[in-house]
Amino acid sequence: MAEIALGMWTSHGPTLSTSAEQWLLRVSADKKNRHPFRGEVHDFETLVELRKGEGLAEAVTLAERERRHAACQAAIAEMADRFVAAKVDVAVIMGNDQRELFLEDITPAITVYLGETIWDQPATAEQAARMPPGIHEAEWGHSPPERREYPCLPDLGTHVCEALVPQGFDLAVSKRLPEPAGHWSSGAPHSLGFIYRQIMRDEVVPNLPILLNTFFPPNQPTARRCFELGRAVGEAIRSWDKDVRVAVFGSGGMSHFVIDEDFDRMFFEALRNRDAETLCRIEDRHLQSGTSELKTWIAAAGVLFDTDLEGEVVGYEPCYRSEAGTGTANGFVAWQ
Ligand SMILES: [Fe+2]
Repeated sequence: MAEIALGMWTSHGPTLSTSAEQWLLRVSADKKNRHPFRGEVHDFETLVELRKGEGLAEAVTLAERERRHAACQAAIAEMADRFVAAKVDVAVIMGNDQRELFLEDITPAITVYLGETIWDQPATAEQAARMPPGIHEAEWGHSPPERREYPCLPDLGTHVCEALVPQGFDLAVSKRLPEPAGHWSSGAPHSLGFIYRQIMRDEVVPNLPILLNTFFPPNQPTARRCFELGRAVGEAIRSWDKDVRVAVFGSGGMSHFVIDEDFDRMFFEALRNRDAETLCRIEDRHLQSGTSELKTWIAAAGVLFDTDLEGEVVGYEPCYRSEAGTGTANGFVAWQ
């Protein structure tokens, strides 16, 4: 039977693949957009006012941004080294799609990928020109320099579906990536590509992607549903009739595009204490925009809380880029 031998929760976003100077490319978008923060939605100027007592001017100096950037790179290297050391055969990746695959014609809540392989490639010049500021610069971090096909696990995916559908999970499945003409993005979403490129360092083991619609209302699965999904997926993995060592990933988060260190600390505490109820009770108003990607962490927790794996926080760096508190808090946790 398959054995779950490694659990990893990791951030995956553009701040990990751009320089501390390039982080500022996103500030123009920050100033235009409205941002969820602590259950409400604010514009940039209001956030600056709300957060003026937090000393964020200090956090956004170039020297401090560079320190935090370097600490993130060290954490990624540590995660990648631990991945190699765990000697796993296959992986299950809880990821999310940020309109890199599914567009407005159909947005499945939970998708199990059943293809034999999954492909990825860099954006064309035309696609790159359509990306928001600061996104194309980060592409090397999740897309290979040329088209590649990575091995997947349709057997395990089918087994997961056969185990979960009778339990009431109405799963979408996909045997190949949607590729409509004129799509702004191509290939695997960055939640998967970051794991392939930076944690597996391009030595991609056969993997099962499970994609959650964390971002887009109105059919985002709740935190509780994500945890229950993970728990059922964990049971399915352990009943899979293959003698393999499995890594389980949650790919996304932490708080962004407005950083909330208190929220992230609460989340780490819940992981450390295997506190399922705290994770399940996080309301959707606290899990919107980029922070919503922590639902992939909750799904991975659903798998990993039922194992005897243990571990710790490998790194945590709130990577601020403005005095409004915009940026991405990058977190890394490993259980062996
Ligand atoms: Fe993301």
